[in-house]
Amino acid sequence: MTSNTRRQSIFITGAASGMGRATALLFAQKGWLVGAYDLDNAGLASLKAEIGEGNGLFGRLDVTDRADFSAAMAGFSAATGGTLDLMFSNAGIGGAGLFDEQSWEDAMQVVSVNFLGVMIGIRAALPLLRATTGSLCLVNSSSSAIFGTAGISVYSATKHAVRGLVEALSIEFKRYGVRASDLLPGLIDTPLLSDPMRAMAPEEGMWRLVPVGEVAQVVWSAYHGDKLHWYIPEQLRDFHRQVVTEPEVVREERTALMATMVTTDDI
Ligand SMILES: NC(=O)c1ccc[n+]([C@@H]2O[C@H](COP(=O)([O-])OP(=O)(O)OC[C@H]3O[C@@H](n4cnc5c(N)ncnc54)[C@H](O)[C@@H]3O)[C@@H](O)[C@H]2O)c1
Repeated sequence: MTSNTRRQSIFITGAASGMGRATALLFAQKGWLVGAYDLDNAGLASLKAEIGEGNGLFGRLDVTDRADFSAAMAGFSAATGGTLDLMFSNAGIGGAGLFDEQSWEDAMQVVSVNFLGVMIGIRAALPLLRATTGSLCLVNSSSSAIFGTAGISVYSATKHAVRGLVEALSIEFKRYGVRASDLLPGLIDTPLLSDPMRAMAPEEGMWRLVPVGEVAQVVWSAYHGDKLHWYIPEQLRDFHRQVVTEPEVVREERTALMATMVTTDDI
């Protein structure tokens, strides 16, 4: 899986903040060449200062823009000799609101970034992944892809979509020797998490607030392992089992939880 003759590389979308940033820092520390891409130029500049110019490529990229992706991937490819060990399709946006109260424009933006952005990125990365022994295409899905989450229904649906895509690609891409897997994170301590969600997080268990460093370590494990789904924290695997065997129980529990939320501001 590893090569002794060349520097390994990772391409990260949404690298300026949260889990993408933590992953960029960890992989740079491990000696990988880091391609860090985001809409947020200021965030990329501070990441660049921390990582050091020689250890990375830093560029503005809107994941919904195919031309942006082609240009970024061409620049990355030129630096790595056409190889890419790990494509981390991580960029995503939140978007809370009851289904019929969320504006159409807001909902479409969530679909564009969280689903179409992932499709575009994987298509752009595939030639490089195919050219690289042991490569991995890793997508940041969500625990909201385990059971449809009320209050963030469209967001949750996009995360189901990428989970389904990854499952299918993990089979299709075997013919190229390219692996595909996803992260299913619970509540991670990043700017994306709303204040009410953060406030609701218990001290322990599967819905505890997880620091971004733990997620970066899981990305490292994902490259060196062979799981299809990476639950963060691991207890979410039990939740997934319950969803499969007792979906109506989960529905009733979630309905009771929803009833405790007085307004959409509580989501
Ligand atoms: N924070 C959580 O609790 C949580 C839980 C499960 C899944 N996730 C998912 O994890 C991923 C990373 O989120 P995070 O929590 O680190 O959030 P974050 O807001 O800290 O980072 C997301 C980054 O994506 C960038 N981005 C947004 N739209 C973009 C676009 N169109 N093109 C390029 N970059 C864009 C943002 O500028 C930001 O830097 C997302 O896909 C998110 O849905 C988050």
